[in-house]
Amino acid sequence: MAKPSSSFACSQCGAVHPKWAGRCDACGGWNTLIEAAPLTSGAGARTLGGARGKQITLSTLTTEETAPVRAISGMVEFDRVLGGGLVPGSAILLGGDPGIGKSTLLLQVAARFARAGHESLYISGEEAPAQVRMRALRLGLTDAPLRLGAETSLRDILTTLDAERPALAIIDSIQTLWADMVEAAPGSVSQVRAACHELVSFAKRTGTSVILVGHVTKDGQIAGPRVVEHMVDTVLYFEGERGHQFRILRAVKSRFGPADEIGVFEMTGAGLAEVPNPSALFLSERGQAAPGSAVFAGIEGSRPVLTEIQALVAPSTLASPRRTVVGLDSGRVSTILAVLESRCSIPFAGLDVFLNVAGGMKVSEPAADLALAAALLSAREDIALPADLVLFGEISLSGALRPVGQSENRLKEAQKLGFSQAIAPERTKAEPGEGIKLRKVPDLVTFVGEMFGAG
Ligand code: TYD
Ligand code: MG
Repeated sequence: MAKPSSSFACSQCGAVHPKWAGRCDACGGWNTLIEAAPLTSGAGARTLGGARGKQITLSTLTTEETAPVRAISGMVEFDRVLGGGLVPGSAILLGGDPGIGKSTLLLQVAARFARAGHESLYISGEEAPAQVRMRALRLGLTDAPLRLGAETSLRDILTTLDAERPALAIIDSIQTLWADMVEAAPGSVSQVRAACHELVSFAKRTGTSVILVGHVTKDGQIAGPRVVEHMVDTVLYFEGERGHQFRILRAVKSRFGPADEIGVFEMTGAGLAEVPNPSALFLSERGQAAPGSAVFAGIEGSRPVLTEIQALVAPSTLASPRRTVVGLDSGRVSTILAVLESRCSIPFAGLDVFLNVAGGMKVSEPAADLALAAALLSAREDIALPADLVLFGEISLSGALRPVGQSENRLKEAQKLGFSQAIAPERTKAEPGEGIKLRKVPDLVTFVGEMFGAG
């Protein structure tokens, strides 16, 4: 009988390779592949043999049961990202760079749940209870009936959870856990997988919701959260730029709610504060109308969010000019530069291009294409767009503008924030409200002609 052979997993992107290599083919990371023992050990027969298994019971979709009652933390931004509260028995992974504020967020969330009467445990493998208590003091949470533990042994944690059966258990972080049945160092792919697997099955079995913290790592020795994303119900990432106080909690996978939902927070001296109106925040630093700035009316999850896209175009001294993109998809930017070049005859060769989304926001919607092109053109031509203008629309390779979803919501949000003009693709189905003028444009060439007076 063949032994189940081990494979090699990339600690950065989670891709699995049959052989070790110096470089991960999937993400290009160097020295990131780590040997991962198979999840199940024991006899690894290639076929199941002749013995019959027992027949499983099949059921239908009709049900008498009502949807499970979700636990609400009262932290609106957090509850919304979960799709309206915490589903009992769900397993949630919270990933993010070290120091971004994961422990702070979860301590605040756990305290809210505890105060709302849901028994909560916070188990830290990284900090001693005294350190967690100090943080709680700083956050003004010392009165919350939250219980703390400092432990890294998976066996002891599961025994404790099984005896306590809390409504919510927070494990900070999966990389510090040590499962004694796996012979590998804590933080390795096999350890992280085994610990996650056990905790997820515990959640399913008992109805305790489990939130696991996973640090995003660049170092090959420690497995990142990507290697366990497939095991959990919900994957959240806590993002933010260093130097910015804004933090965005994004649901990248969600079995019980909409994906791509975001919650916006601000890191303050007393912990994370919720930002109920992100558009106002992202646009708050906008000054006078300046060349290279365009406001995009976007949708994040279920909510419209306006962001400012900033572009700078400058003569380049390099043989292959710079394309520096922050907060946008760089592939998308290259496509739009190519469309501008070949459909509108506006060359960007010999020019450095810098693009940025203000406030540290990440925009991945194709609907941002038009605003992106507008920012690029405005920077290149050194002509400022009107300060009260928002844009949205997808650009196709032919240069035509394609309508995007939820146009009405985008316009409503723009109007609410005092914008009085909008430009959108021709076939946009939306009736703008009273205070906003909607101009519909069929293609990029027409747009360039109207805005910048040249085709
Ligand atoms: P932390 O939650 O420890 O990050 P993580 O668990 O993701 O590694 O957050 C650490 C950062 O947050 C640290 O740089 C200090 C900052 N911070 C504040 O600005 N205000 C606060 O009230 C707290 C508790 C932390
Ligand atoms: Mg932490």
